[in-house]
Amino acid sequence: MYKCRICLNNINPFMSFGSQPIANGFLKEHEFSEEYFFEMETAFCESCNTFQLVTQPSAEKMFHENYAFFSSLSKNMRIHFKMFAEMVMEEYFIDRVDPFVVELGSNDGIMLQNFMNNNFRHLGVEPSSNVGDVARKKGINTISEFFSLDLAENIIEESGHADAVICANVMCHIPDMNDIAQGIAKLLTADGVLIFEEPYLGDMLAKTSYDQIYDEHVYIFSAHSVMNAFGRHGLEIIDLLHQETHGGSMRYVLAPIGTHTISPNVEITLRDEKRQGLNSIETFVKFKANCEKSRSNLVGLLKDIKLQGKRVVGYGATSKSTTVLNYCGIGPDLIDFIADTTPIKQNKFTPGCHIPVKSHEDFHANPPEYALLFAWNHATEIFEKETQFSENGGKWIYFVPSVEVK
Ligand code: TYD
Repeated sequence: MYKCRICLNNINPFMSFGSQPIANGFLKEHEFSEEYFFEMETAFCESCNTFQLVTQPSAEKMFHENYAFFSSLSKNMRIHFKMFAEMVMEEYFIDRVDPFVVELGSNDGIMLQNFMNNNFRHLGVEPSSNVGDVARKKGINTISEFFSLDLAENIIEESGHADAVICANVMCHIPDMNDIAQGIAKLLTADGVLIFEEPYLGDMLAKTSYDQIYDEHVYIFSAHSVMNAFGRHGLEIIDLLHQETHGGSMRYVLAPIGTHTISPNVEITLRDEKRQGLNSIETFVKFKANCEKSRSNLVGLLKDIKLQGKRVVGYGATSKSTTVLNYCGIGPDLIDFIADTTPIKQNKFTPGCHIPVKSHEDFHANPPEYALLFAWNHATEIFEKETQFSENGGKWIYFVPSVEVK
């Protein structure tokens, strides 16, 4: 029996994804024997409707000076975050005098650079110092610390309250949501807004995209769970905007209770979530069965291809792929290597299953018969670049929303 991280109600794991390593812990051969693993079990709290990991490695094990994820490597994500920033400036900065924006987990500054370019006061809070350094080099104000209630008080002392606190793909990484929510509520001006977006539970369940679950994602939120997690700290949802990024995300807009008009989107989404069963444990029992089916289909397909003497290369050494590889038990016997654009991942091995990571040049130099699309959330951008692969007869393997070859 565990306690819900949000409301402290008793929860029971409904599923285990087995022994998992640090999802972004790409490593060298001499590090294999020291590799850290934890049992990745998931639970759903029937009281506050929060989907969560029951155990998570320490933050220092995941976010450090060698953190391997750089947001700006994707062209479409740069465009997406520019549009996110423009929405904040146009809808929430109008009529404010010298507004101040704070971004939590600002990574290499992909979003904040848009505020800097428009001369808005801004601050990035980014615990991984290597990615924070990239932002600082671009002139973006960034501190390398973990956000907390204490840090919120320091920021207020130095720069005043924030008109907007924003973050993208960060909130679900923070286990102590109550401390963070308190810190944000304190940091905001009386009518400030909190805007964040995250992979959405509704999409994950609809697509069986269980690869969204890995050590960093301690929560996968829904509107119901966000309402419950922040409502207890005086913030309410004023708008909800579904996004296509990360295979289906939700942008949550919150503000101190009673300070803003509530969009009809909120009622509509809450009703849709009830219809989809996002607040019922039976839905998660079905999700478990879907994950098991997805696993046997994928492993079966890879083994068949191997028997035919053909090659499979993975495309995109995503954090998400760590869950798939380790849950399915897929190693270098089934996948030759994974091609990825991130220099810090190349010439290392994937966490847990130890598949070599190489560059896209290696993929192009000796194209395999099949490419397994781990970065499925970037499919459009990837297909634009990889027309040659398909034209030469190469086939893509998908596993979301179901295992297919195209
Ligand atoms: P992403 O799906 O953004 O995230 P996560 O790690 O959260 O699952 O992963 C992007 C990864 O895919 C990153 O390692 C870079 C790689 N990638 C490529 O190798 N080629 C590409 O064309 C794109 C868009 C990404």
